[in-house]
Amino acid sequence: MDTLRVGVVGIGHNGTAHAHTHYLNPKSNLVGICDFDQAKLEACKASGDFDDRVGLYTSLDEMLEQADLDVLSVNTPDHLHAEPFVKGLQAGCHVLVEKPMGNTREDLERMTDAARQSDRKTMVGQILRFNPYNVEVHRLCSSGALGDIFYLAADYIHGLKVQADPSRINPHIGNINWYLEHEKVLVGGCSHQFDLLRWYSGSYAVEVTGFGNSIAFPAMQHPDCMCAVVKLAGGATCKLTGAYGIVGPRPDFNNLEVYGTRGTVRQGKVMLGEGHDVTVEDISDKEIAGHPYEPEIEHFLDCILEDKPTLVDAFEGANSAVAMIVATEAIETGQALAVPHFER
Ligand SMILES: NC(=O)c1ccc[n+]([C@@H]2O[C@H](COP(=O)([O-])OP(=O)(O)OC[C@H]3O[C@@H](n4cnc5c(N)ncnc54)[C@H](O)[C@@H]3O)[C@@H](O)[C@H]2O)c1
Repeated sequence: MDTLRVGVVGIGHNGTAHAHTHYLNPKSNLVGICDFDQAKLEACKASGDFDDRVGLYTSLDEMLEQADLDVLSVNTPDHLHAEPFVKGLQAGCHVLVEKPMGNTREDLERMTDAARQSDRKTMVGQILRFNPYNVEVHRLCSSGALGDIFYLAADYIHGLKVQADPSRINPHIGNINWYLEHEKVLVGGCSHQFDLLRWYSGSYAVEVTGFGNSIAFPAMQHPDCMCAVVKLAGGATCKLTGAYGIVGPRPDFNNLEVYGTRGTVRQGKVMLGEGHDVTVEDISDKEIAGHPYEPEIEHFLDCILEDKPTLVDAFEGANSAVAMIVATEAIETGQALAVPHFER
């Protein structure tokens, strides 16, 4: 088999990008797109200039029954990932689910249970692992060049008040704007950054605490500004801020900083040495703008076709999401909390 029959569920901004990327990849045969909203399906089909192989479905059950899929790509809202992920695996599909893998502890338990019971590949769309800048920082960490890593920081600070636009109210999912009702800035936003910090440190969270507020973007039901401090299993400390109500652009490199006993990565520069006696290398040109959907999807298809493990399977994705879910709970209850760990 050198092409895979692919279906995409959830045809909003991100699902449309996945559908286009699969349509253009010679290893994919895009045979179905699915959304509750028929108008979105037709708009997507028209924008992609897709041919008649691409069926339109308003029911995931029908797409799974009729389209004979090898691969399901789940691009539903954060709080609606679990059901299509589980249904896809149970129907025998390899499943990629967007980040954050789930929005609650219960979602993650249900999804990891399904992954354990399946022999299909799973992948979570932690797309920043495919940005060459982040790949280079990972190489520096995993090669030992930075020494023992003791402190890591990164932020998801973004002006996202545009998400309150009334056009985002979706009558098909309870007549809500899910970004306002369900989005948690540490989970939806900072799961990107925490996944990188975990990847760099080769570790996972054991305890979290933090503070937050709803000053800048009070239309969000959860605090729109949250700052978390995370203790990792190896002893290193992480700091992450998620904030959606800011003025101005995102900070460069999302304020990513990694400190090891032999080196530091900060603001696009690698500093190696002792104290102030350091060599400095500028690696900022490795950073690419936008979302590297092509290499992410190519990796998933290759893992299926060549029977290799995916870079971010359900357990890897769950361990990134759960720390940010528990951090949100810690901030909302005012308590430091232990973080569970998902084992394969
Ligand atoms: N990788 C990234 O950098 C990145 C970027 C943007 C969004 N995302 C993620 O992608 C996901 C989708 O985000 P979006 O902005 O495209 O959302 P969106 O609200 O624009 O689109 C989601 C669509 O899913 C549909 N839907 C929900 N449940 C469904 C079901 N069971 N069956 C069929 N259709 C269903 C909705 O009708 C809606 O059209 C989110 O999890 C988000 O966090 C990831």
